[in-house]
Amino acid sequence: GAVKQYDWTIDYAFWSPDCVEKLIIAINGQYPGPTIDATVGDTIVVKIHNKMPTESVVIHWHGMQQRGTPWADGTAFVSQCPVGPEDDYTYQFVVDNPGTFFYHGHHGMQRAAGFYGSLIVHPENITDEPFKYDEELSIIVNDWWHKSVHDQERGLYSNPFIWIGEPQSLLIEGRGAYNCSLVPTGAVANSGDCVTCNASVPQCQPYVLPVTPGKTYRLRIASVASLSSLNFILEGHNLTVVEADGHYVEPVVVNNLDIYSGESYSVLFTANQDPTRNYWAGINVRGRKPATPTGLAILNYLPNPSTLLPTTPTPVSPLWNDYNLSLAQAQLIKAHNSLEIPFTETSGSDKTIFLLNTQNRLNGVIKWALNNVTLVPLSTPYLAAYTYRRKLKTVLSASAPPPLTYTPGYDISSPPVNPNTTAGTGVYEFKLNEVVDVVIQNANTLTVNNSEVHPWHLHGHDFYVLGMGNGVFTSKDYAQLNYVNPPLRNTVPVFPYGWSVIRFKADNPGVWPFHCHIEPHFHMGMGVIFAEGTDLLPRIKLPAQNLGCGLTKNLIRP
Ligand code: C2O
Ligand code: CU
Repeated sequence: GAVKQYDWTIDYAFWSPDCVEKLIIAINGQYPGPTIDATVGDTIVVKIHNKMPTESVVIHWHGMQQRGTPWADGTAFVSQCPVGPEDDYTYQFVVDNPGTFFYHGHHGMQRAAGFYGSLIVHPENITDEPFKYDEELSIIVNDWWHKSVHDQERGLYSNPFIWIGEPQSLLIEGRGAYNCSLVPTGAVANSGDCVTCNASVPQCQPYVLPVTPGKTYRLRIASVASLSSLNFILEGHNLTVVEADGHYVEPVVVNNLDIYSGESYSVLFTANQDPTRNYWAGINVRGRKPATPTGLAILNYLPNPSTLLPTTPTPVSPLWNDYNLSLAQAQLIKAHNSLEIPFTETSGSDKTIFLLNTQNRLNGVIKWALNNVTLVPLSTPYLAAYTYRRKLKTVLSASAPPPLTYTPGYDISSPPVNPNTTAGTGVYEFKLNEVVDVVIQNANTLTVNNSEVHPWHLHGHDFYVLGMGNGVFTSKDYAQLNYVNPPLRNTVPVFPYGWSVIRFKADNPGVWPFHCHIEPHFHMGMGVIFAEGTDLLPRIKLPAQNLGCGLTKNLIRP
């Protein structure tokens, strides 16, 4: 493969994604960041320079497995020390799987400050793909707040708790429109925004998807949403889903597509509608009571001008709380029949972990917890703690390993009887090549009659989604798991009061977060750490630039 080199300067910028000016984190002055367009086998080298005077950064390459390069995963305090002001860091890794991916900040809540972009990997030979299209288009969808991410973050660990609330806008490829007229007069929270809301700013003109009548398009869609489950609609066009998280799937036709934070899809559509007009592409919130207007882009039938706005109503998504519909759609996604599944119903796993998702309190502050442990990451990167295991012994012995399961009989339908959680470093250790099943069990939050959607994402791996269902997962449910054509993905939603089961092989030595991709949830402790092939980790040569924080400062010789 080729070596593709990028030089990125990361700095704040003033930007108006939804016509309201805000401080964002831009790459080379761009938002969203530059697209990386590569071919399988390429080596990607990204040299970053952090120009922000008071903030450190890392970049995570979401969906890249980083085989042999666990230090390049870009997770603050897991794979590396964050890169300080005026410092440089070079990420280097091989892209080994074709598909639709993205990258984003993975320190604090920087992803929510606009710090993200697309990473697209093409197969060496386009004819290797099990479907055909004429051209491709690509968008990243997101939800957007006017409050700064620092403000949001501080609120989340305040007592009393200050929740970020619902987003002000929804963005398609970094563009949306804040509806000033929706702000009630005298409302404290955002009324000031209307003073600066300027709909004539070019940055917030709707994103345009240009199409030639008669042609078939592959539209890549990825979600980096902070909070919202989104639903995508292309007015007047059916969508054929052909790829999910970088793997081909059996084609399924839908007229609206749920996409959870951390997921990506490719859908095919043909521009076969009345060519004298343009159409809406829209996203709406599902899974939470919507309080945000539809995010809109323009499907532009050429040669109509892109400014020819549709006069039809904007797209309406299915009812936000019709979770059975969401579950049914998620279950439609199956591995493509060309994908070989390396196990059968009877192969079993070497280890099964049950993770009960609860909302709890730690010293009065609201947290999320897994088996009653809320993740409080170390201040020394976990990967360094393993590679320098002898010198940094004290780091890993800091807390007891989290439990492999939860108390049987836990009532998932009411708030926890004991709302208090404990803090932990969240490490599950696996021997090389162990086959691991994880049953993610959802439950009621601290609020009566409330359970939320959580999209769980794993670093360093794709996993098979063996199944999803409602209620408490019991041994009877093994019978309904899919061992025939389970899709291979890197993110899986867990629905309210429901469960999801995944399987992966711990064959990638490294330290990999497994966490809810909802930015505030991860920040509130909703994650665990998988340390794989731990015996081999001391042999890893960690680049010196990964070190320097926590106890690793003692490892660097001047
Ligand atoms: Cu895209 Cu750990 O996240
Ligand atoms: Cu969550």
